[in-house]
Parts: sequence; C-alpha cells; structure tokens
Amino acid sequence: GLPDRVTIYEVGPRDGLQNESVIVPVETKARLVSRLAAAGLTTIETTSFVHPKWVPQLADAEELLERMERVPGVRYPVLVPNERGLDRALERGVTEIAIFGSATETFARRNLNRGLDASIEMFAPVVARATAAGMRVRAYLSMCFGDPWEGPVPVEQVVRTGRRLLDLGCAELSLGDTIGVGTPGHVTALIGAFAAAGTGPGRLAVHFHDTYGQALANTLAALRAGVTVVDASAGGIGGCPYARSATGNLATEDLVWMLTGLGVRTGVDLESLVATSAWLAGELGRPSPSRVVQAMSSE
Ligand code: HMG
Ligand code: MG
Repeated sequence: GLPDRVTIYEVGPRDGLQNESVIVPVETKARLVSRLAAAGLTTIETTSFVHPKWVPQLADAEELLERMERVPGVRYPVLVPNERGLDRALERGVTEIAIFGSATETFARRNLNRGLDASIEMFAPVVARATAAGMRVRAYLSMCFGDPWEGPVPVEQVVRTGRRLLDLGCAELSLGDTIGVGTPGHVTALIGAFAAAGTGPGRLAVHFHDTYGQALANTLAALRAGVTVVDASAGGIGGCPYARSATGNLATEDLVWMLTGLGVRTGVDLESLVATSAWLAGELGRPSPSRVVQAMSSE
C-alpha cells in the first residue's frame, strides 16, 4: 500500500544552490525560501554551515538566516559537519540540523577530509550537543547505491554505517543516492535490510538524485516499503560539488505530480511551486530540468 500523506523535505536552497555555478545573491535565496513556504512546503533545508572555501555558493549562511522570513510551523534545517558548524548554527538560533556521513571511505575523504571512522568521531559531539540543546538532528548517508570511485556499495555496509549514525542520537536517516545510479529493486532491498537489522522505514527518508532518470521510480519503491519522508529540490536543481557526475535532485514538482495522481497528500500547491521554479530558472540563467516545470510553464 501507499501512505495517505508524504512529507516533502525540500533541499533546493541547500543541495540545489550548492552546485550551481552562479553565486546567487542572498536576497534571491531569502525570496526562494519564502516562496517555497508559501507554496506549502513545511520542511525547507536552507543552507550549510560548512567551510566557506569548500562550498562558496553557501558562504552567506549567516546572512541568509538573518534576512529570511520564518513562517510558523515550517521547519528550516541546515547542514552542519562539525562543532565549528554547530556553533555557527547555534549563534543564529537554528533549531534543526543535519549531519552528513558517507557509506564509503573514498567519499568520506573527499567530502569531509577524513575517513569514515574519523568522520563519525567528528559527528558524535555535534549530535550530543545539538540534542542537548533541544535540536532535532537528521543524518544523511551518501553513496548508498553506488560510488563513483568504489563502484557498487554492499547493502550490509550501508546498513551498518547508517545505524552507526542513528545510534549517535539522530532522529532520522536519509538514504542518499548521490550519483543517481540506484534502481527500484535495490531500493526495496536496502529498506528491507534496514528493517531486518531493526531500523524500520519510519526512521528513514530517501534522497534521490535523478542522474539516470530513476528518481521517481525509486521513490515509489520507497513509499511501497513504508517510507513517508522524501527529499526533493524545487525545479530539480542541484548536485554535489564533491561527487563526480552528481546532477540535480528529484524535482519537487515531479514528485508532487506523481503523488497527486496517486491520491497521496503533500500540502503543496503545484502551480505556485512551478511559478517559483520558473522564476528561479530565470535567476540561474538556465531552464529547469524538471519535466513537470517545463510542461506546466509552456501551457
Ligand atoms: P577541514 O579542512 O578538515 O577542517 O574540513 P578542519 O577541522 O581541519 O579546520 C580547518 C579550518 O577550517 C579551521 O580554520 C576551522 O576553523 C575551519 P583555521 O583554524 O585554519 O583558520 N572550519 C570551519 N569554518 C567554518 N565553518 C565550519 C568549519 N569547519 C572548519 N563548519 C570540513 C572539514 C568538514 C569543514 C570540510 O571538509 C567541509 O566543509 N566539507 C563540506 C563539504 C560539503 O558541504 N559537501 C556538500 C554537502 S554533502 C551532499 O551534498 C550530499 C547530500 O546531499 C546527500 C547525498 O546526495 O548523498 C547531503
Ligand atoms: Mg544530495
């Protein structure tokens, strides 16, 4: 069966904009966050407190949080890799963060400048201090379905690493297909392996990049396996600057179109969201890769 309702975890302002070659002005980012909330999105990942040299696109994190409007009832999580990032987030009154681990050694080194074990050691005090401060902490796990340097990633390795992150005290684990190579049978098998190890789908989210056009099919497989939190980026913008061949996330519009057709509620107003992504495409100087945005903007 399918859930009655799905929570869309919008990552456009963070995962989307971190990989655009254009540096988007902070006023435009603040406007984007407001428009996403106005379109009915209730979880909007806004930015990252990472090293500004690693991700210059999001170097204005403090300024964005200062300027952006906060709608009551909407959650505005931010990415935090280490205690320095947590301090920055705490200073700005952030109430929800996401740490981001890797299922593979190579990507941990490339993305976090340290191996898998050392990165989990880096996260431990972040999660401990954040939860003690009353924050909700999500954990991402990248390269769950394949790694551009290591190739296939064994399901057992993904489950083991994901559970290590949850055991730090994280509320939710988002399974990342960073380079978009996964297919639906793999999704079903991975979620099943988590359940067999004691982590049910209620603690999982899915994070698909659409590099190989599989993101929607993979999402449907995850919903059938009991997952109800789905990551997506408005207009399908995005990728990861430290992952070769990573392209945009599953487009929020494509997701909403499919869920509406299935009778699954999201609370999102599709026309308002499409108008937002069409506006953003103009700001970025390139058309949205989302098929739904293309179809609905040319109507
Ligand atoms: P490092 O160089 O090893 O850091 O980077 P360090 O701890 O050795 O510190 C070196 C210097 O950086 C120090 O300054 C620190 O203060 C400073 P110094 O004393 O030399 O003057 N520093 C910081 N400054 C500001 N904010 C901070 C911070 N941390 C240290 N937070 C680090 C380690 C983790 C910081 C670095 O590797 C980094 O920033 N990585 C971020 C990479 C990133 O953002 N990748 C994209 C997001 S992940 C993703 O997109 C995947 C996802 O979407 C899921 C999926 O698709 O799979 C989530
Ligand atoms: Mg991503």
